[in-house]
Amino acid sequence: MRNHLFFLSTDPHASPFDVNIALDSGFDVVIPYPMVTPENTESLTHDIIFSRGPKGTSRSGIFIGGSDVALTEKIAGTVRKSMFAPFTVSTFSDPKGAYTTAAALTAKTGKAAGGLKDKRAMILGGTGPVGSLTAVLCAREGAIVTIVTSRDQVAGDRVAAELEKNYSVKIGAASASTEDERLALMKKSDIAIAAVKAGVKLMSKEALEKIESPLLIADVNATPPYGFEGLEPNDDEKQISGHVRGIGALATGAIKHKVETGIFKSMLQQKITAGLDTAYELAKTLV
Ligand SMILES: NC(=O)c1ccc[n+]([C@@H]2O[C@H](COP(=O)([O-])OP(=O)(O)OC[C@H]3O[C@@H](n4cnc5c(N)ncnc54)[C@H](OP(=O)(O)O)[C@@H]3O)[C@@H](O)[C@H]2O)c1
Repeated sequence: MRNHLFFLSTDPHASPFDVNIALDSGFDVVIPYPMVTPENTESLTHDIIFSRGPKGTSRSGIFIGGSDVALTEKIAGTVRKSMFAPFTVSTFSDPKGAYTTAAALTAKTGKAAGGLKDKRAMILGGTGPVGSLTAVLCAREGAIVTIVTSRDQVAGDRVAAELEKNYSVKIGAASASTEDERLALMKKSDIAIAAVKAGVKLMSKEALEKIESPLLIADVNATPPYGFEGLEPNDDEKQISGHVRGIGALATGAIKHKVETGIFKSMLQQKITAGLDTAYELAKTLV
């Protein structure tokens, strides 16, 4: 019996990134279902779990992805509620790669910082999927977290309030649209994480040289130009300027890849329900 992964996506296209990793991790075939909604999830799930008999359930898995984190979680919840013994299969949700990326980024940053408790962590792009989940994980570890938006304060406050409500963590918000504004926030931080849209340069080397106290920076953007000038994708705790050391996108990406691969492999070994927490627990063992 072959290993089937059913990829339910909220988007018009299921991400080839996840398809490749699933196939490389041991699934024989990945079947994409685009534009999945909470309304059509139950019938899709039933068609997946009943068609191969109880034995086939350990050879079938469901991956739930897409750009919309809240919608993906809603669909994942419906998938889980639609299954009952012995017709249950492994599930894994990772909207836009945000769970595995935030898990890897937080684990890497936490290790490099010697722990996150009471550290002042600012997250540029903290309103997006990767940044907001990184904010949640950092806050759970006891960091004092501020998400930073390039829009106005209201936009940041709105996302921070949603995260506080949905994840029961404390998160602050700030607005910074210029390099000078970002520098002012960095001077008041121990950690500055960039999880901004790909290909956006945030800080020049000259600006980073103005930092006068120890600062750990981490960028997950692997598309040039990178967020922090002088921090290259493969850099791993590299000294960038007098007080600044940094973690580049591929140093985090390598862990993210291992986390996602590890979860896909686990889905074929036992029945699991995997999401943000699973990804973070695994990431911490890999850094
Ligand atoms: N290394 C890895 O393994 C890995 C894996 C997955 C993703 N990624 C990378 O992670 C990053 C975040 O991904 P995502 O999907 O969360 O990103 P996203 O949704 O495309 O963007 C994140 C945030 O960036 C901010 N932003 C957009 N344009 C900006 C600008 N010109 N200046 C400053 N901020 C701007 C926006 O927030 P505001 O409008 O509120 O400012 C947005 O919410 C991307 O660079 C992606 O390529 C890396």
